Amino acid sequence: MSLSDKIRRLKTEKGVTILAHYYQPLEVQKIADVMGDSLGLAKVAKNEINTPYILFAAVKFMAETASILNQDKVVLSPELRAGCPLSNFINPSVILEYKSQYPKAPLIVYVNTTAQTKAAADVCCTSSNALTIVKNVAKDWKTDNILFGPDKNLAAWVKQESGLNVIPVPPNGNCLVHNQFSIDHVHEARAAHPGAHLLCHPESPIEVLRQADYVGSTSGMIQYVETHDIPAGFILGTEIGLSDHLQDKYPSKKLFPLSSDAVCRNMKKITLEKILLVLESIGTPQESQFEVRVPAEIAEKAVKSIDTMMRYS
Ligand code: 13P
Ligand code: SF4
Repeated sequence: MSLSDKIRRLKTEKGVTILAHYYQPLEVQKIADVMGDSLGLAKVAKNEINTPYILFAAVKFMAETASILNQDKVVLSPELRAGCPLSNFINPSVILEYKSQYPKAPLIVYVNTTAQTKAAADVCCTSSNALTIVKNVAKDWKTDNILFGPDKNLAAWVKQESGLNVIPVPPNGNCLVHNQFSIDHVHEARAAHPGAHLLCHPESPIEVLRQADYVGSTSGMIQYVETHDIPAGFILGTEIGLSDHLQDKYPSKKLFPLSSDAVCRNMKKITLEKILLVLESIGTPQESQFEVRVPAEIAEKAVKSIDTMMRYS
C-alpha cells in the first residue's frame, strides 16, 4: 500500500480531518480533506469539523488558529518547528509600545501571528479581507489612524487602497518569501511571457504590486485563474506551491511562478512520512508530542479578535 493510501485509511479509522494550505508540497495537498487559504481554513476549522481530531498541514500559527477556534478538539501538527518568520516581527510588548504611542488607534494584526499576539490585538485579518477589515474598523472607531502589523507590504498596500493612515507595526516586518520579489523579476517574467497576467500576493513589495493585474490572497488568485481565459497564461507572484496546485488542477492553463526561488521552507517541512507518524501516534502516549493546544485563557482573548474579524468581513 502506498504512503498516501495508508494515510487515507488511517485518517478515516481514527477520525481525523486533514486541513492543508496551498503552499504545501503537492503530494500533501492530494491527501488533504480540505485545502484553503488562511481565511478559508480558519472558517472551516470554526464551522465544519465533525471529527475529534484536526491534523493541520501548514505552518504552526494556522494550527494554533484551529486550536483557538476548537478548544474541544485535538489539533495535531506533523512539524511543530514549522514556524512563520513573519509572525516573529510582532508580539504583545510591541503592541503595548505602539498602543501607548497611539492610544486611540485600533490595532489590527495579520492572521500570521502567535495566539498571544492575537489575544493582545483588537482585530485580526487575513490577506483576503485586510482591506475590508481596515475600512470597516476605521468607520466604526471613527478614526483614520490604523495600527497594522506585522507585514509592512500588506500595510502599504492597504494604505494605498483605503486612503487611510495605516501605520506599519513594526516598520520593517516582512515575509522573506514574498519580500524578495522585485521589479526585475516583473520585467523578466513579462518579457518571457508576453500577454500573461501578473497576479501578486499582497505580502509582495508595493512597487511590485503596482505592476500587477490582480492583487489578492492565494484563494483570490485561484479564483482569478479559474474565471479568466488568458491564452498567454498567468505569472504567479507567490509561493510556488500555488503554481503546483493550479497546474495540477488545470493542466492546460499556462502558469509561471514569478520566481522559482519563492519557496516557503517552513511550509515544505511537512511531509507524507511525518503525517503518517502523527496518525499512527493517535491513541498512544506519543500523540501528545504532536498536539498544538492554545491555553484556554489565551484562546478566550484571541478568539475575540478572530470573531471581530469574521463580523467585520
Ligand atoms: P493566504 O492568506 O493567502 O493563505 O496567505 C497566507 C500566507 O502565509 C501567505 O504567505
Ligand atoms: Fe510565513 Fe511567508 Fe511562509 Fe507565508 S510564505 S507562511 S508569510 S514565511
